[in-house]
Amino acid sequence: MPKTIKKKIIDFILKSGRKEYIDNLTKNTIYGYKDLNNLFKQFEIIQKNIECAHRESDFYIMYAIILSLQVNGPIVELGCYKGGSTAKLSLISKLTSRKLHIFDSFEGLPDPIGIDRKHNSNVDECFSKAEDEDLY
Ligand SMILES: C[S@@+](CC[C@H](N)C(=O)[O-])C[C@H]1O[C@@H](n2cnc3c(N)ncnc32)[C@H](O)[C@@H]1O
Repeated sequence: MPKTIKKKIIDFILKSGRKEYIDNLTKNTIYGYKDLNNLFKQFEIIQKNIECAHRESDFYIMYAIILSLQVNGPIVELGCYKGGSTAKLSLISKLTSRKLHIFDSFEGLPDPIGIDRKHNSNVDECFSKAEDEDLY
């Protein structure tokens, strides 16, 4: 994706609310408002019920990119934690008719090093290992 288009998408997402965001996706993708609104309602339910290692807004850029690109290959998630992001991606993959492949070591992340702290001061609070009871 050209950098200018990516920057426009990011700027738009950071400035807009959810309705504007969905309106914009409706204009720039092949998906209608009803489908997208339902999708985002389901995302909210997932976010409330599964501990996710991301904020919902963190994923808005990824959703916009996946929904606006017309490609046929699979979607691949590297690191699913407790499956919240996976549940969301499974809905996106259904809507886009793409396969979803999920990988996780279920061993958590390695301890943070200096460069991780430079970019994220909360890095020590980053959890990362799903417990056995989280896995179905
Ligand atoms: C920050 S969490 C993922 C968060 C999740 N995508 C979400 O948004 O809720 C990182 C995940 O990556 C997994 N992981 C770390 N290193 C890995 C590796 N080398 N191969 C596969 N999975 C790995 C961890 O077990 C953990 O579940």
